[in-house]
This record gives sequence, structure tokens and C-alpha cells, in this order.
Amino acid sequence: MSDCPTFSYHDNELFAESVPLKQLADKFGTPCYVYSRAALTYAYQEFDRAFANRDHLICYAVKANSNIAILNLLARLGSGFDIVSGGELQRVIKAGGDPKKTVFSGVGKTINEMRRALEVDILCFNVESEAELIALNQIAQIMGKSAPVSLRVNPDVDAKTHPYISTGLKENKFGIPITEAEKIYQSAHLYPHIRFTGLDCHIGSQLTTLDPFLQASDKLLNLLEKLESQGLAIEHLDLGGGLGIRYVDESPPEIKDYVSALCDSTRHIKQSILIEPGRSLIGNAGLLLTRIEYLKNTPARNFAIVDAAMNDLMRPALYDAYHDILPVFKTAGQIKTYQVVGPVCETGDFLGHDRKLGVTQGDLLAVMSAGAYGMSMGSNYNTRPRAAEVMVDRDTVHVIRYRETIDELFATERILPQ
Ligand code: LLP
Repeated sequence: MSDCPTFSYHDNELFAESVPLKQLADKFGTPCYVYSRAALTYAYQEFDRAFANRDHLICYAVKANSNIAILNLLARLGSGFDIVSGGELQRVIKAGGDPKKTVFSGVGKTINEMRRALEVDILCFNVESEAELIALNQIAQIMGKSAPVSLRVNPDVDAKTHPYISTGLKENKFGIPITEAEKIYQSAHLYPHIRFTGLDCHIGSQLTTLDPFLQASDKLLNLLEKLESQGLAIEHLDLGGGLGIRYVDESPPEIKDYVSALCDSTRHIKQSILIEPGRSLIGNAGLLLTRIEYLKNTPARNFAIVDAAMNDLMRPALYDAYHDILPVFKTAGQIKTYQVVGPVCETGDFLGHDRKLGVTQGDLLAVMSAGAYGMSMGSNYNTRPRAAEVMVDRDTVHVIRYRETIDELFATERILPQ
């Protein structure tokens, strides 16, 4: 998976499974997200297999890529879902996902979102504050229901990742301080319409070592032991998402080693294990296909100006993230160092700095590892229609989202009458 075996060169031409990327660019235009069904399926099955006969549920983090075709494929494989909004819940339902395999995370769930989630009987609310618990108890009471809850505890563990995507430190907005969680579980009687069924954490994203996961799991296990000794019947332990992928030269743990380590550290408990992977399922199953509009050589730098931009893939601009950029045709052309930039009017609009490429105007480039937090973080900045998305399945291609039209971009806007 980490080497993207499903995107590979044949005779110096880059393919997605059995389909030449050039064929996709000709047919669907650029920029275009291209996904591999095999890569997604393989990653899911690797997670699932590694749990062996341990009672578990994989809840795909919808925010990583929320296209309903992707959610549908995962649902067909047996996946559950981790959602963070009413919109994501509707997507899961539309995609044929099972609400009873869905957990609801996030610090700011609204009353309407809670109501809808209770209506469809989701598996669990991952509650992140006492105020949220009070609100959920009230709405459940009004609806005559009992809301299943896991407290998301903040274990104060350093995930050693980019500060914007680190969530498990005590200064982050996420979760309930682990030191306070026990007290809240103990005051269950204050919340007669809440059932405490789980215990949850998520410490960050793009983690490349196992250690922080194990530290967090140890802290949760300690708490779990205390809760059990007080007679609370906790049914599942949710260890969140966060497993990193290889973008360039990182060496994150293999999926199977990560799962084995989690199973190992929790082998003495009877609870089922939930995880919420996003990036590690879809990140390396997708790329962003783009075409060079112009080459511009200035005395200071060479620019390859492409037709994809920060509105299509925001990660480089937002986190200074590195995505490998490969030419669709490897040629013997003169190699130069390029700044690969988009057409958006911001200096932060770049896809890659200092890339060595032998390219000419009109060439196609593939921005790799773009399946997660690519399209789902896309915007219409500069009134740019969002990219098309296609799913390759061996030699077959399915459009899973057509390119937005300009008209659609302002279809919801209105001019004042006078
Ligand atoms: N569960 C919760 C509660 C989360 O907040 C997240 C991600 C996940 C699971 C999935 O984490 P993953 O397995 O994908 O690491 N936009 C950033 C990543 C933000 C992650 C937010 N939370 C990026 O492009 O790197």
C-alpha cells in the first residue's frame, strides 16, 4: 500500500490499475482526482484481517474523503463510520452505510444534529464536554430515548505530528481531560437519558510511530479498569484514528503491525475495539491529476504553473505538507528544479517546492497520496469549480463526481431586488 502498487509505470507511462492516466485526462479533463478501488479495498481488508478473531469495528473517518461512492464501497466491505456533522451522517445514510455502525465525534454537535443521530439510532456519541452531555441528555429525554455515549478523553499524549493535526494534548480543544472523565462517568445518575457504553480517544493524525498510540491506550485502560471496578458496564474501547501513511520517506507502522499492537495492549479486556482510520484507508488510494499550463522561468526560479491549485489540494498551503509529484510520462527531457504552483492569487498556492522534473508545457503531472483530505478539503476559492473524481477498477473507470460547472457555483446566490 505504502508504495502505491496500484499506481505504477508501464513503459515510462503512469497508470491507475490498468488504465493510463493520459486516457483519464483526455476523457475527463484536469484537475481530476483518480482513486483505485483495489488500493482502498486492500487497505480496508488489511485492517480487518489484522484484528483476526478479536471483536472489533472499523469506523472509517468520513472527513478524510466523503464521496458517497467511497463510503458505499467501504459499507459493502462491512465498515462502520466516524462522522463529525449532520451532513456526514446524511452522506453515510445516502451511501447505504449503517447508522448502527456509526459513531459521532466532534466538539460542537448541534441539537439538530443530535436529534437526527438519535432518530436513526447511531451506535454512539463521542461526547467531548460536560455541556454537550447535558444537551444530549435533554434532547434524548424529549425524544423518549436513551443516548449511547462514549466520553472522548484527552489523554495528554504528544502525538509528535504537525501541531494543527495534533489533538491529544491537554492544551488542545478536544476531549475531556482524562483527570475529569472518571468523575463524569461516576455522575451517570445525573444523566438518566444517557447510557455510557464506551470510552474513546483520538490523539492526532499522520502519526508515524506506535508509541503515542500505546501511551494513550494505556491511559484509557487504566481508566477503564477503574470504571469497571465501580460497576460501569463499558462495551467498547474506541482508540480513534491517526495512523500515518508514506508521503515521501516516512516509515509509518504497517497497518497489520499497528492493529496487532492495539490488540496486544488490550488483550486482557473483554470490550470490543473500535478504531476510526481515515488517511490510512484512502490516502494512498488516490492521486490528483493535473496539467502544466505554462512554464515560467525567472532569474530567481522556474515555475511549473499547473491547472490544480490550493483550492483542490490545500494540504501543502495549510501544513506545508509534502506530496510526491510524478510526471505521467517519464521522458529524457532536461531536468530542472521547479516550483509547482497553481493559478490562485496567493503565494501560498503551491503543490510542491523545488521539484526536479523534466517537463514541457502541456505535460501531465500526478500529485500522489492525495486520496485523503484532498477533495474533502477542497473549496471554490477564486470561483474555481471543484475537480472531477473518478474511480478506477482494473480496466474500468467510473465517474464518482462530475466536475462542477460555473453555473452551479452561484446557483444559491441572489441579487438584491433594488
Ligand atoms: N477520528 C477523529 C475524531 C478525528 O478527528 C480524525 C481526524 C480521525 C478519526 C481520522 O484520522 P486519520 O486516521 O485520518 O489520521 N486535514 C488534516 C488531517 C486532519 C485530521 C482530523 N481528524 C490533513 O490533511 O493532514
